Amino acid sequence: MSDTSDNALPVSVLIVDDEELLVKSCSQILSSEGYAVYSEGRGRNALDVVRRHHPDVVLTDLMLPDMDGLALLKEIKKQAPETLVVMITGFATVDSSVEAIRAGAYDYIPKPFTATQLRILIGRAAQQVRLVRDNAQLRDQLKRQYSFENIVGTSDAIQKVFSVVSRVAPTDASVFISGESGTGKELIARAIHTNSRRSPRPFMAINCAALPDHLLESELFGHEKGAFTGADVQRRGLLEVASGGTFFMDEISEMSMELQAKLLRVIQERRIRRVGGESEIPIDVRWVSATNRDPEQAVRDGALRQDLLYRLNVVPIRLPALRQRKEDIPALAQHFLRRFAQEYDRDNLRFSAEALRELAEYDFPGNVRELQNVVERIVSMCLPGQEIGPDDMPEELSQRASAGGARPMSIFNADQPFHDAKTDAITVFEKEYLQDLLKRHNGNISQAARTAGIDRKTIHRMLSKYNLESRIRD
Ligand SMILES: Nc1ncnc2c1ncn2[C@@H]1O[C@H](COP(=O)(O)OP(=O)(O)OP(=O)(O)O)[C@@H](O)[C@H]1O
Ligand SMILES: [Mg+2]
Repeated sequence: MSDTSDNALPVSVLIVDDEELLVKSCSQILSSEGYAVYSEGRGRNALDVVRRHHPDVVLTDLMLPDMDGLALLKEIKKQAPETLVVMITGFATVDSSVEAIRAGAYDYIPKPFTATQLRILIGRAAQQVRLVRDNAQLRDQLKRQYSFENIVGTSDAIQKVFSVVSRVAPTDASVFISGESGTGKELIARAIHTNSRRSPRPFMAINCAALPDHLLESELFGHEKGAFTGADVQRRGLLEVASGGTFFMDEISEMSMELQAKLLRVIQERRIRRVGGESEIPIDVRWVSATNRDPEQAVRDGALRQDLLYRLNVVPIRLPALRQRKEDIPALAQHFLRRFAQEYDRDNLRFSAEALRELAEYDFPGNVRELQNVVERIVSMCLPGQEIGPDDMPEELSQRASAGGARPMSIFNADQPFHDAKTDAITVFEKEYLQDLLKRHNGNISQAARTAGIDRKTIHRMLSKYNLESRIRD
């Protein structure tokens, strides 16, 4: 969407009425004012126009031959909530106009009306439309500053990263991303590719820790037929396949020193030789690498060649741990909530303020990936429409978030005789297990019994034994 196109676009108005004369004169008046005008005599056809052309304003009679104007209004609001609907009320009854406004109409105009009344009313609606467009455009521009699809974060720390990414992406410079596990290294690598001129070409990722050295080598460079046992066909390496695109090497410090030396030569010479091959094949890739270690430390530890790091590290990007940018937690949580609510088909879920606070207090040693898993787990146990409260949070969150991580560690007291201690311990265990189980299943005993692998009668028996019956739903 370019900056000017939106506001240059005329405001469009759909007139719905079966009185041809009225439609004709309204159309003339509004067209001469510069509006784009559609007209229809029937409600069904009007809905078609709404679907296809998204008019900004709909001016509709309250009584249509095939449907009630209010029903049309409600349907339009459902399909295109931003549409402004103006009702033409036949007999100027107070009731119908009030009802129309209640149902979401922008305004109403009693019949008969003058050309001036119509101009003023539609003029006001058009002003509103332009205001909304301006706002959306402004938001778009702000957002465009440093925003990448599906990457969330407004903290200073992550915004700095975004600003580097947006400046470096269009260049061909090598980027070296470091950061703890789960901080989004691969996500950033992909964003660099997507925002570069190489985006129509492949993004190839290889995890250097996942393969033993000789396999990694033939994955990277390819091999000729018969190069080694099992190489019964010739194969192109990933570097060849990625030509013109971006090559992402994850966990680079897990590569052996010998292979690192070969890689260094490839980077310098921009040519590869397949394993067992003679000829040199030119390659053209943009290098992006990542590690969850501190790269300089990896060099000191002898895990990473200094000269390789030097080549790959033209632009370093350090991704901060999530606990260093806790202000991003709520937005990330909402982002994952939307995603998983859709995936699990749970409509209208929301976090309570306390739930968000609890999330933001937790340290997330597994970073964004852990947060994502936590939200997925929560969503999978929720009912549609539910507000997610502190009670719906996974146990480990409150445990580890609370000072000292204190939780009754021991459920027995060694001063007691064995049998008493055992009985007490079983009581504590059964109660806690049951409460947790029922919480997870929202008090639904049949589901709980299935999960626990015990029958419903046993659950009922324990419930009455521990007086827990109030929370259940059979
Ligand atoms: N800022 C973010 N916004 C949205 N999702 C994110 C963000 N950061 C990370 N994620 C998500 O978190 C998960 C982990 O991210 P990613 O795989 O990029 O991390 P990583 O640093 O490569 O982890 P590892 O070191 O374990 O490979 C992914 O599902 C990713 O989509
Ligand atoms: Mg990764």
